[in-house]
Amino acid sequence: MTASASQPQVHGIFDPATWTVTYVVYEKEGSPAAIIDSVLDYDPKSGRTRTDSADKVIAFVKEKKLQVEWILETHAHADHLTAAPYLKKHLGGKTAIGDHITTVQKVFKGIFNLEQTFSTDGRQFDHLMKEDERFAIGNLTGQVMYVPGHTPACVAYQIGDAVFVGDTLFMPDVGTARCDFPGGDAKALYGSVRKILSLPPETRLFMCHDYPPNDRPVAFESTVAEQRAKNIHVHDGVSEQQFVEMRTKRDATLEMPVLILPSVQINIRAGEMPPKDENGVAYLKIPVNAL
Ligand SMILES: [Fe+2]
Repeated sequence: MTASASQPQVHGIFDPATWTVTYVVYEKEGSPAAIIDSVLDYDPKSGRTRTDSADKVIAFVKEKKLQVEWILETHAHADHLTAAPYLKKHLGGKTAIGDHITTVQKVFKGIFNLEQTFSTDGRQFDHLMKEDERFAIGNLTGQVMYVPGHTPACVAYQIGDAVFVGDTLFMPDVGTARCDFPGGDAKALYGSVRKILSLPPETRLFMCHDYPPNDRPVAFESTVAEQRAKNIHVHDGVSEQQFVEMRTKRDATLEMPVLILPSVQINIRAGEMPPKDENGVAYLKIPVNAL
Protein backbone atom coordinates (compact mmCIF):
# COMPACT_ATOMS: atom_id res chain seq x y z
CA MET A 1 0.00 0.00 0.00
CA THR A 2 1.41 3.42 -0.90
CA ALA A 3 1.40 6.27 1.61
CA SER A 4 -1.58 7.93 -0.06
CA ALA A 5 -3.49 4.64 -0.35
CA SER A 6 -3.23 4.17 3.40
CA GLN A 7 -4.32 7.77 4.01
CA PRO A 8 -7.22 8.54 1.70
CA GLN A 9 -8.48 12.02 0.97
CA VAL A 10 -11.81 12.60 2.69
CA HIS A 11 -14.15 15.41 1.70
CA GLY A 12 -17.17 15.95 3.95
CA ILE A 13 -20.27 17.85 2.82
CA PHE A 14 -22.53 18.88 5.70
CA ASP A 15 -26.28 19.12 5.19
CA PRO A 16 -27.61 21.63 7.73
CA ALA A 17 -31.25 20.54 7.26
CA THR A 18 -30.61 17.00 8.55
CA TRP A 19 -27.23 17.46 10.30
CA THR A 20 -25.83 14.75 8.02
CA VAL A 21 -22.37 14.53 6.52
CA THR A 22 -21.87 12.98 3.08
CA TYR A 23 -18.32 11.86 2.40
CA VAL A 24 -16.37 11.50 -0.81
CA VAL A 25 -13.35 9.25 -0.28
CA TYR A 26 -10.59 9.00 -2.86
CA GLU A 27 -6.86 8.60 -3.28
CA LYS A 28 -6.09 11.65 -5.39
CA GLU A 29 -7.47 13.84 -8.14
CA GLY A 30 -8.61 11.71 -11.07
CA SER A 31 -8.78 8.50 -9.04
CA PRO A 32 -11.67 6.13 -8.24
CA ALA A 33 -13.88 7.23 -5.34
CA ALA A 34 -16.63 6.16 -2.95
CA ILE A 35 -19.54 8.27 -1.74
CA ILE A 36 -20.82 7.51 1.75
CA ASP A 37 -24.27 8.46 3.15
CA SER A 38 -25.71 10.87 0.61
CA VAL A 39 -28.74 13.11 1.15
CA LEU A 40 -31.79 13.75 -1.02
CA ASP A 41 -33.46 16.94 0.22
CA TYR A 42 -37.08 16.38 1.24
CA ASP A 43 -39.71 18.86 2.32
CA PRO A 44 -42.19 17.02 4.57
CA LYS A 45 -44.75 19.79 4.22
CA SER A 46 -45.12 19.40 0.46
CA GLY A 47 -43.71 15.91 -0.11
CA ARG A 48 -41.29 17.38 -2.65
CA THR A 49 -37.68 16.34 -3.10
CA ARG A 50 -34.77 18.47 -4.27
CA THR A 51 -31.22 17.63 -5.18
CA ASP A 52 -29.24 20.62 -3.86
CA SER A 53 -27.22 18.47 -1.42
CA ALA A 54 -26.55 15.72 -3.95
CA ASP A 55 -25.61 18.29 -6.59
CA LYS A 56 -22.85 19.54 -4.28
CA VAL A 57 -21.48 15.99 -4.23
CA ILE A 58 -21.68 15.78 -8.02
CA ALA A 59 -19.91 19.14 -8.39
CA PHE A 60 -17.07 17.99 -6.13
CA VAL A 61 -16.69 14.66 -7.92
CA LYS A 62 -16.52 16.46 -11.27
CA GLU A 63 -14.13 19.13 -10.00
CA LYS A 64 -11.71 16.42 -8.82
CA LYS A 65 -12.36 14.27 -11.92
CA LEU A 66 -13.17 11.26 -9.76
CA GLN A 67 -14.70 8.00 -10.96
CA VAL A 68 -17.34 6.85 -8.52
CA GLU A 69 -17.13 3.10 -7.90
CA TRP A 70 -19.26 2.81 -4.77
CA ILE A 71 -22.26 4.62 -3.33
CA LEU A 72 -22.29 3.31 0.24
CA GLU A 73 -24.75 3.52 3.11
CA THR A 74 -23.76 2.88 6.71
CA HIS A 75 -27.40 1.98 7.47
CA ALA A 76 -31.01 2.67 6.52
CA HIS A 77 -31.19 6.21 7.84
CA ALA A 78 -34.21 7.44 9.76
CA ASP A 79 -33.54 11.15 9.47
CA HIS A 80 -32.86 11.76 5.79
CA LEU A 81 -33.49 10.22 2.40
CA THR A 82 -30.58 8.78 0.48
CA ALA A 83 -29.76 10.28 -2.91
CA ALA A 84 -28.12 7.04 -4.08
CA PRO A 85 -30.29 6.52 -7.20
CA TYR A 86 -29.77 10.14 -8.33
CA LEU A 87 -26.02 9.95 -7.78
CA LYS A 88 -25.80 6.60 -9.54
CA LYS A 89 -27.66 8.01 -12.53
CA HIS A 90 -25.28 10.96 -12.80
CA LEU A 91 -21.99 9.46 -11.64
CA GLY A 92 -22.27 5.65 -11.92
CA GLY A 93 -21.05 3.35 -9.16
CA LYS A 94 -22.58 0.45 -7.28
CA THR A 95 -24.91 0.98 -4.32
CA ALA A 96 -24.20 -1.05 -1.19
CA ILE A 97 -25.28 -1.44 2.44
CA GLY A 98 -24.71 -4.01 5.21
CA ASP A 99 -26.32 -7.38 4.47
CA HIS A 100 -28.45 -7.28 7.63
CA ILE A 101 -30.57 -4.67 5.84
CA THR A 102 -32.78 -7.69 5.15
CA THR A 103 -33.74 -7.74 8.85
CA VAL A 104 -34.65 -4.05 8.70
CA GLN A 105 -36.64 -4.59 5.49
CA LYS A 106 -38.65 -7.39 7.10
CA VAL A 107 -39.45 -5.29 10.18
CA PHE A 108 -40.59 -2.26 8.21
CA LYS A 109 -42.44 -4.28 5.58
CA GLY A 110 -44.62 -5.36 8.50
CA ILE A 111 -44.90 -1.93 10.13
CA PHE A 112 -45.84 -0.22 6.86
CA ASN A 113 -47.79 -3.17 5.47
CA LEU A 114 -45.85 -2.75 2.21
CA GLU A 115 -46.91 -4.28 -1.08
CA GLN A 116 -46.59 -8.07 -1.37
CA THR A 117 -43.99 -7.66 -4.10
CA PHE A 118 -41.60 -5.69 -1.86
CA SER A 119 -38.58 -8.00 -1.53
CA THR A 120 -36.88 -8.35 1.82
CA ASP A 121 -33.73 -9.97 0.44
CA GLY A 122 -31.86 -6.72 -0.15
CA ARG A 123 -32.01 -6.99 -3.95
CA GLN A 124 -32.80 -3.26 -4.25
CA PHE A 125 -29.08 -2.65 -3.60
CA ASP A 126 -26.38 -3.58 -6.11
CA HIS A 127 -24.34 -5.23 -3.38
CA LEU A 128 -24.77 -6.32 0.24
CA MET A 129 -21.66 -6.00 2.41
CA LYS A 130 -20.74 -8.88 4.71
CA GLU A 131 -18.81 -8.64 7.97
CA ASP A 132 -15.09 -7.97 7.35
CA GLU A 133 -15.65 -7.94 3.58
CA ARG A 134 -12.93 -6.15 1.66
CA PHE A 135 -13.64 -4.02 -1.38
CA ALA A 136 -11.47 -1.93 -3.67
CA ILE A 137 -11.77 1.75 -4.53
CA GLY A 138 -8.93 1.89 -7.05
CA ASN A 139 -5.75 1.52 -4.98
CA LEU A 140 -7.65 2.01 -1.74
CA THR A 141 -8.95 -0.96 0.20
CA GLY A 142 -12.14 -0.73 2.20
CA GLN A 143 -13.19 -3.14 4.90
CA VAL A 144 -16.60 -3.59 6.46
CA MET A 145 -17.10 -3.59 10.24
CA TYR A 146 -20.42 -4.69 11.70
CA VAL A 147 -21.44 -2.05 14.25
CA PRO A 148 -25.02 -2.87 15.29
CA GLY A 149 -26.85 -1.03 18.04
CA HIS A 150 -28.46 2.04 16.49
CA THR A 151 -29.98 -0.41 13.99
CA PRO A 152 -29.30 -4.15 13.64
CA ALA A 153 -27.81 -3.60 10.18
CA CYS A 154 -25.35 -0.78 10.84
CA VAL A 155 -21.88 -1.05 9.34
CA ALA A 156 -18.78 1.14 9.46
CA TYR A 157 -16.37 1.38 6.54
CA GLN A 158 -12.65 1.33 7.25
CA ILE A 159 -10.70 2.78 4.34
CA GLY A 160 -6.98 3.10 5.03
CA ASP A 161 -6.57 5.03 8.29
CA ALA A 162 -10.11 6.45 8.08
CA VAL A 163 -13.25 4.89 9.53
CA PHE A 164 -16.72 6.09 8.59
CA VAL A 165 -18.52 5.21 11.77
CA GLY A 166 -22.14 5.79 10.74
CA ASP A 167 -24.50 6.25 13.68
CA THR A 168 -22.36 4.88 16.51
CA LEU A 169 -20.18 7.64 17.88
CA PHE A 170 -20.82 11.34 17.46
CA MET A 171 -18.30 14.06 18.25
CA PRO A 172 -16.95 13.67 21.82
CA ASP A 173 -19.13 16.47 23.20
CA VAL A 174 -22.29 14.91 21.69
CA GLY A 175 -21.71 11.25 22.56
CA THR A 176 -23.41 8.36 20.80
CA ALA A 177 -26.37 7.47 18.59
CA ARG A 178 -29.79 6.53 19.93
CA CYS A 179 -30.74 2.86 20.19
CA ASP A 180 -34.54 2.95 20.44
CA PHE A 181 -35.55 2.34 16.83
CA PRO A 182 -36.96 -1.11 15.95
CA GLY A 183 -34.09 -3.58 16.36
CA GLY A 184 -31.91 -1.07 18.22
CA ASP A 185 -29.87 -2.33 21.19
CA ALA A 186 -27.80 -0.21 23.58
CA LYS A 187 -25.72 -3.19 24.70
CA ALA A 188 -24.88 -3.99 21.09
CA LEU A 189 -23.95 -0.35 20.47
CA TYR A 190 -21.56 -0.41 23.41
CA GLY A 191 -19.83 -3.45 21.91
CA SER A 192 -19.67 -1.79 18.49
CA VAL A 193 -18.18 1.38 19.93
CA ARG A 194 -15.53 -0.58 21.87
CA LYS A 195 -14.67 -2.36 18.62
CA ILE A 196 -14.11 0.96 16.86
CA LEU A 197 -12.16 2.33 19.82
CA SER A 198 -9.84 -0.69 19.83
CA LEU A 199 -8.32 0.54 16.55
CA PRO A 200 -4.97 2.39 16.67
CA PRO A 201 -5.27 5.71 18.57
CA GLU A 202 -4.42 7.84 15.54
CA THR A 203 -7.20 6.29 13.41
CA ARG A 204 -9.32 9.05 11.88
CA LEU A 205 -13.03 8.72 12.67
CA PHE A 206 -15.66 10.41 10.51
CA MET A 207 -19.13 10.95 11.96
CA CYS A 208 -22.38 10.55 10.03
CA HIS A 209 -23.89 13.53 11.85
CA ASP A 210 -23.00 16.48 13.99
CA TYR A 211 -25.37 18.24 16.37
CA PRO A 212 -23.06 20.94 17.72
CA PRO A 213 -23.93 22.06 21.24
CA ASN A 214 -23.88 25.76 22.11
CA ASP A 215 -21.84 27.79 19.67
CA ARG A 216 -19.40 25.11 18.60
CA PRO A 217 -18.88 25.15 14.83
CA VAL A 218 -19.92 22.00 12.97
CA ALA A 219 -17.22 19.30 13.13
CA PHE A 220 -17.25 15.69 12.02
CA GLU A 221 -13.72 14.34 12.27
CA SER A 222 -12.20 12.89 15.43
CA THR A 223 -9.70 10.17 16.38
CA VAL A 224 -9.82 7.01 18.42
CA ALA A 225 -7.56 8.64 21.03
CA GLU A 226 -9.79 11.71 21.32
CA GLN A 227 -12.96 9.65 21.64
CA ARG A 228 -11.43 7.35 24.25
CA ALA A 229 -10.37 10.36 26.31
CA LYS A 230 -13.34 12.67 25.89
CA ASN A 231 -16.53 11.09 24.56
CA ILE A 232 -19.18 12.08 27.07
CA HIS A 233 -20.99 8.72 26.81
CA VAL A 234 -18.25 6.16 26.19
CA HIS A 235 -14.85 7.49 27.22
CA ASP A 236 -12.51 4.87 28.67
CA GLY A 237 -13.77 3.71 32.04
CA VAL A 238 -17.50 3.76 31.23
CA SER A 239 -18.83 0.22 31.76
CA GLU A 240 -21.37 -1.52 29.55
CA GLN A 241 -23.93 -1.34 32.34
CA GLN A 242 -23.39 2.39 32.90
CA PHE A 243 -23.68 3.03 29.18
CA VAL A 244 -26.85 0.97 28.73
CA GLU A 245 -28.52 2.71 31.68
CA MET A 246 -27.58 6.17 30.39
CA ARG A 247 -28.58 5.39 26.79
CA THR A 248 -31.92 3.82 27.72
CA LYS A 249 -32.85 6.73 30.00
CA ARG A 250 -31.85 9.29 27.41
CA ASP A 251 -33.60 7.54 24.51
CA ALA A 252 -36.87 7.62 26.46
CA THR A 253 -36.74 11.44 26.26
CA LEU A 254 -36.07 11.74 22.52
CA GLU A 255 -38.75 12.53 19.97
CA MET A 256 -38.90 10.63 16.68
CA PRO A 257 -36.85 12.30 13.92
CA VAL A 258 -38.96 14.58 11.73
CA LEU A 259 -38.28 12.53 8.61
CA ILE A 260 -38.39 9.01 10.04
CA LEU A 261 -41.52 7.89 8.17
CA PRO A 262 -40.50 8.98 4.67
CA SER A 263 -36.82 8.14 5.27
CA VAL A 264 -37.34 4.55 6.30
CA GLN A 265 -39.86 3.80 3.54
CA ILE A 266 -37.52 5.12 0.87
CA ASN A 267 -34.15 4.05 2.28
CA ILE A 268 -35.11 0.37 2.59
CA ARG A 269 -35.79 0.59 -1.16
CA ALA A 270 -32.22 1.83 -1.72
CA GLY A 271 -33.61 5.32 -2.30
CA GLU A 272 -36.28 4.44 -4.86
CA MET A 273 -39.82 5.73 -4.34
CA PRO A 274 -42.64 3.24 -3.69
CA PRO A 275 -44.50 1.92 -6.76
CA LYS A 276 -46.81 4.55 -8.28
CA ASP A 277 -50.57 4.34 -7.88
CA GLU A 278 -52.69 4.05 -11.02
CA ASN A 279 -52.79 7.88 -11.22
CA GLY A 280 -49.02 7.94 -11.68
CA VAL A 281 -48.18 9.32 -8.22
CA ALA A 282 -46.07 7.54 -5.57
CA TYR A 283 -47.43 7.75 -2.02
CA LEU A 284 -45.82 7.25 1.39
CA LYS A 285 -47.72 5.81 4.32
CA ILE A 286 -48.24 7.11 7.85
CA PRO A 287 -48.98 4.29 10.30
CA VAL A 288 -51.22 5.55 13.08
CA ASN A 289 -50.20 4.57 16.62
CA ALA A 290 -47.82 1.89 15.35
CA LEU A 291 -44.39 3.34 16.07
FE1 LIG B 1 -29.25 6.84 11.68
